[in-house]
Amino acid sequence: MNVEVFSGDAPVVPAVAVLYYEGQDMSKIWGGAAETAARHFGAIGRKNEWFRFPSLDGGAEVFLVGLGKKKDVPTGAVRDGVAETVRRLGALGIAQAAVIFPDGLDEDLSAAAAEGAVLGNYRFDRFRTPKEGDRTVPMESLFLMGGHQSAVDRGVILGRAQTEARDLANRPGNDITPQTLAERAQKIAEETGLECEIWDETKIQAEGMSALWHVGKGSQTPPRFIHMIYRPKERAKKKVVFVGKGITFDSGGLCIKNRVGIRTMKCDKTGGCNVLAIMKAVAALTPDIEVHGVVGAAENMPDGAAYRPDDIVRAKNGKTIEIVNTDAEGRVTLADSLSFASELQPDVIVDMATLTGAAVTALGNYTAGLLCDHDDLSRAIMDAGCRAGERFHHFTMDDDKLREQIDSPVADLLNSGGPGGGMITAGMFLKEFVNPDIPWAHLDIAAVDFYEKPFGCYGKGASAFGVRTCLEYIRSL
Ligand code: BES
Ligand code: MN
Ligand code: ZN
Repeated sequence: MNVEVFSGDAPVVPAVAVLYYEGQDMSKIWGGAAETAARHFGAIGRKNEWFRFPSLDGGAEVFLVGLGKKKDVPTGAVRDGVAETVRRLGALGIAQAAVIFPDGLDEDLSAAAAEGAVLGNYRFDRFRTPKEGDRTVPMESLFLMGGHQSAVDRGVILGRAQTEARDLANRPGNDITPQTLAERAQKIAEETGLECEIWDETKIQAEGMSALWHVGKGSQTPPRFIHMIYRPKERAKKKVVFVGKGITFDSGGLCIKNRVGIRTMKCDKTGGCNVLAIMKAVAALTPDIEVHGVVGAAENMPDGAAYRPDDIVRAKNGKTIEIVNTDAEGRVTLADSLSFASELQPDVIVDMATLTGAAVTALGNYTAGLLCDHDDLSRAIMDAGCRAGERFHHFTMDDDKLREQIDSPVADLLNSGGPGGGMITAGMFLKEFVNPDIPWAHLDIAAVDFYEKPFGCYGKGASAFGVRTCLEYIRSL
């Protein structure tokens, strides 16, 4: 989709959407036309308010879209409002529209509007044969009144990164395997000029990534290790590594999930898909930060060759893990990825993973867990999340009694600490594989990885939750 800024006369389009906050004065908008329309419908700008004002003289139809109360960080309402507008106009078969903001668009709002446009336009339809009578079209062009084009272009880059992540995560396990995920990483690198190295199952074992190998060895499609690098032209100010959990399907392995729990486990690669998308965006945004993307991709399956409960595996940093539950596989693969990330000696490591059902229990579906024992980094991520419109709740991992739950009598660690404090003990497990001198944050995105119904900037399906926060964090460095 093409998002463009205009000033002066609105371009000739079949629809004009007016987005306004609750209680906003609209008398000066558009020669008072918006106010007339608003008064006609009794529109007051409440969130999700939506009125269609048919064109009387063959001109554009007018849509009134409520944004709710204006908040301290207004980008969220604009991102959501534009996404909702684009989704609804697309469903009406309208491919071009102008959007008017009575409140104006500064740079941040311009970016948020463009991002919302791209996000609202995304649908996972690559496997669907169009049905007769389908009216829904993707929108082709959106014209924003009075925005800043360079900020709009940044918003489009951010939006496209998220739709890339969503599309990858939405694709099922018979389509996206460790191999095809790695191929996609390679393709992104070729298209954007990033460096990319892929290790196959032989190299994975040769490099001491026995933990990743064990998780993947029960599958017909063996594991892959993905390492992407963005290097700025000038000397880098900082070096940041993003690590993603890349389980292309999580059946639970021999500790197989039940028929309810196993559904949606194609989304267990979300963290990895997010990392690929972050790298794609970074290549386009060209920050003066060196950025690495690391993903251990594997499929967790039950099989004669699968890893078992009671197995003891050794991760790349030498620590041994006693397998209690083959369904706690994500942390086992991350053990190797985080060891690798530590060897790169970066200034910061951030990992993201659909790691625990406990995150769903603790936080519900709209807030992700931030596990971090580093004050500055946790504050920076919380702030970035706030500006990016993604909610996080901060947890520390300094509870020594809780830590005992992952002590093993026969190895260095257990891969599961049982149900109590499950999100935190998972974080404590990961901590053992990060060099303690490197500030590190773990994002548990299990609860927010996809949505059943569209709302705001989220469509039905994968959400790419975390991508915006990580890119905003990079921007803040
Ligand atoms: N991928 C799951 C976590 C998950 C659960 C993500 C629900 C999204 C929705 C993870 O691999 C898993 O199975 N975790 C187990 C860990 C347990 C066996 C210690 C869990 O949370 O039940
Ligand atoms: Mn699992
Ligand atoms: Zn999993």
